[in-house]
Amino acid sequence: MEKSSASPNDSFTSAMTLTEEELACVRKRYVLPPSLRPDGTLSNTCLAIVDLSFLQHPLFRHQIIQEVQLACKELGFFQVINHGIPLSVMKDVLDAATEFFELPNEEKMHLLSPNVHDPIRYNTSLNDVKDKVSFWRDFLKHYANPISNWIDLWPSKPTCYKEKMGNYTTAVQKLQEKLMEAIFESLELNPNYLHEDIAEGSQVMVVNCYPACPEPDLTLGLPPHTDYGMLSIILQNHQGLQIMDRDEKWHAVPFIEGALVVLLGDHMEVLTNGRYKSVIHRATVNSEKKRLSIASLHSLALGKKVRPAPALVDEQHILSYKEGGLSDFLDFISGGDIMEVKYIDKLKINP
Ligand code: OGA
Ligand code: NI
Repeated sequence: MEKSSASPNDSFTSAMTLTEEELACVRKRYVLPPSLRPDGTLSNTCLAIVDLSFLQHPLFRHQIIQEVQLACKELGFFQVINHGIPLSVMKDVLDAATEFFELPNEEKMHLLSPNVHDPIRYNTSLNDVKDKVSFWRDFLKHYANPISNWIDLWPSKPTCYKEKMGNYTTAVQKLQEKLMEAIFESLELNPNYLHEDIAEGSQVMVVNCYPACPEPDLTLGLPPHTDYGMLSIILQNHQGLQIMDRDEKWHAVPFIEGALVVLLGDHMEVLTNGRYKSVIHRATVNSEKKRLSIASLHSLALGKKVRPAPALVDEQHILSYKEGGLSDFLDFISGGDIMEVKYIDKLKINP
């Protein structure tokens, strides 16, 4: 059959393809308006690093819970070390992801999809069809928990992908359950609150590839945003992630070998009735090396809704959020311009 000239694939150019051209400048569509560019003024306060090995220790658990509480309240962000996921599992999944993005275009194009409801999709930028400016990023997104439901859809090339991604997603899902218990404890909720729903929750893997960029000061890999879920757990191979504090100052998240980054998302803000807020973050790019990150986004299952915990609603803390779920978020991003309206604002009762 003859290929239609209006095929959506015709206009697709991955960031990886652009770097092969070895241009000295970025194309015009990647140049952000000056107010959105990463201006390089960064605050260098100490960002929380939580050692999870102490969580099982009766003498130290309380102290760790307090560290978690402070980090969640002040920033909505912390890094975890000694989290139980072996370095080899993390290294392997980053290798598999690197190999995926290095495949020739034709090996990836069958996964190309602009439809945010698809359980697996490869694409570039943020929302390639709608973006007014483009972001210097290629990505593969797919569902993971439980892996038996989704693994058949995952890339069959590189051949190691399913095994290595499977090992990592299973481990990170378990870690998420442990972190949610600690976070609930920090809110004086029962650590087992929603336990089953969390164990059966949705897990969206976002595999990001940010190739080296000739003009990193003019563009971004991802614009400022919050993640929709309760928790995002991010594995990265280089520095590049930045978070915004409550004073709207940007902080570079230091790269720590073996650590994982934990970000609170919009559904956590809903669940805690605003006690903990989601954290605004962005991804910068650099001119020297390609950066990979693998974000595991956790919320309740696709058909379920997150609502404020009844124990966190009282006279001093009136009900401030509506219920929301992954399907609401997907409907939201397939509709409006997510750079202009925020998903969390749709969930606030009195924004
Ligand atoms: C994301 C994200 C940050 C990064 O995928 O939502 O924020 O460092 N990624 O890649
Ligand atoms: Ni994010």
